[in-house]
Amino acid sequence: MKKILLVCIGGLLLAACSKGSLDTPEESITPPKKDTVYVNLPKDSCNNYFYSVNTCPGELCSSEINVSWGVRLNTEYCIVYLMDETGKILKQTKLPASKAEKCTVYDGIYSKKANGDNFYESARFLKYNYTLTPLSPDKKYSYRITSHWIDSQGRKISATSDTYHFRTAGADRWNACIISDFHSYPPLPGRLSSAMKMVETVNNYSTGKNGKGFDWVLHLGDVVAWGGSWSFWNIMYREKPFKNWMWAGLNGNHDNMTRQSDYSNKFFKYATANPLNGYQGEEGVCYSFTYGNTLFVMLNNEDMGTSAGLEKAQAWVRQTLNRSTARFKVVCEHYQWFYGSTGSTSQYSRWKDLFDECGVDLALGANNHIYVRSHKLNNTVYIQTPSSDNERGQDSIGELEYNQDKIAFRWNEGPKTIGALLMDVDNNKITITLLDRNAQALDNVTISK
Ligand SMILES: [Fe+2]
Repeated sequence: MKKILLVCIGGLLLAACSKGSLDTPEESITPPKKDTVYVNLPKDSCNNYFYSVNTCPGELCSSEINVSWGVRLNTEYCIVYLMDETGKILKQTKLPASKAEKCTVYDGIYSKKANGDNFYESARFLKYNYTLTPLSPDKKYSYRITSHWIDSQGRKISATSDTYHFRTAGADRWNACIISDFHSYPPLPGRLSSAMKMVETVNNYSTGKNGKGFDWVLHLGDVVAWGGSWSFWNIMYREKPFKNWMWAGLNGNHDNMTRQSDYSNKFFKYATANPLNGYQGEEGVCYSFTYGNTLFVMLNNEDMGTSAGLEKAQAWVRQTLNRSTARFKVVCEHYQWFYGSTGSTSQYSRWKDLFDECGVDLALGANNHIYVRSHKLNNTVYIQTPSSDNERGQDSIGELEYNQDKIAFRWNEGPKTIGALLMDVDNNKITITLLDRNAQALDNVTISK
């Protein structure tokens, strides 16, 4: 009888959950005869109770990895299960709601549904950031989360997330996929699917060339069309590559904006769980992390437009670079170093002196939707990614009018561009390869020590 009751409640909950609004209460559930029955939601309905689960870097990726997720406001606690590669539970941690933050930054923002309907985001939820640590170096792990709450009928309910995977740093040689500018926009799902397919293409290329897929993904911004649209992040994070790898990312101009051109770095901050080692006002947005032998410094262009903003960012970058003993130093920002169509100078002129001073090996940018790679300029190679959504690329590449002595290679496919990079690092060198959608290697550069 108890079993039948559980099945019935599960079925009713599934029907209620499929409506999918972020803060839909469970009032529509028929009350059970006993109000103390513990119900585990059917697995395929549980995604309605977890928002934007994603794996972010810890400050030191050989021993700590961060996890970001949201749950409903009535959640009492979550449990994070850390597992090894085989699924064996290594550690479980109970996190009461008091460990989470009530997030309302996306609530009421004008947005668009996948079917094209206009709507206002309904997004009031509890946001968790949690660091999985201590971890062993060069090891595959997985995790899943359960959330627990008492519904309006007084019943205890729990839901279990999907399983997520990552690999810690520590291998002598490691690989990352670098991608940007796919402007995920639910009414045009081809943007996201093009980028996700490209990630898999890079992984297959890595497997063919190195005998193993890449270890993590670095994105350089503009992953969603409007960062203020919480539903856009949610839809994006359900894709398989976000379950299979850690993603380290940075805030692009699109991630920083709403449909109505309001701006905030909180949209990016609350969609991730990055290290909080950035400078004042940029904690969790600007950050640095070390993956193996390489330091990554992640910037937010949207707050560097003025000379005062730039100065603040550069003071932090200088301090971060000088403190690190990593073998390779990489600085990432969303905006381009050069305008790809003519080769004219963009952010390069603002940063070259600091990069020369601090011995930056690789400067990564994006935004222009044209791949540009420089020669080694003093100590630094400058690269900006192409777009990857098959839709928002630039028309064409004109003649290289400027910086002929600095720019080594440019590429795009016109408006319908899909490309990404494979970064291959060992103790002596970084190799970056540009791949098109057909896994053709179009450009290659090696930075040796
Ligand atoms: Fe873009």
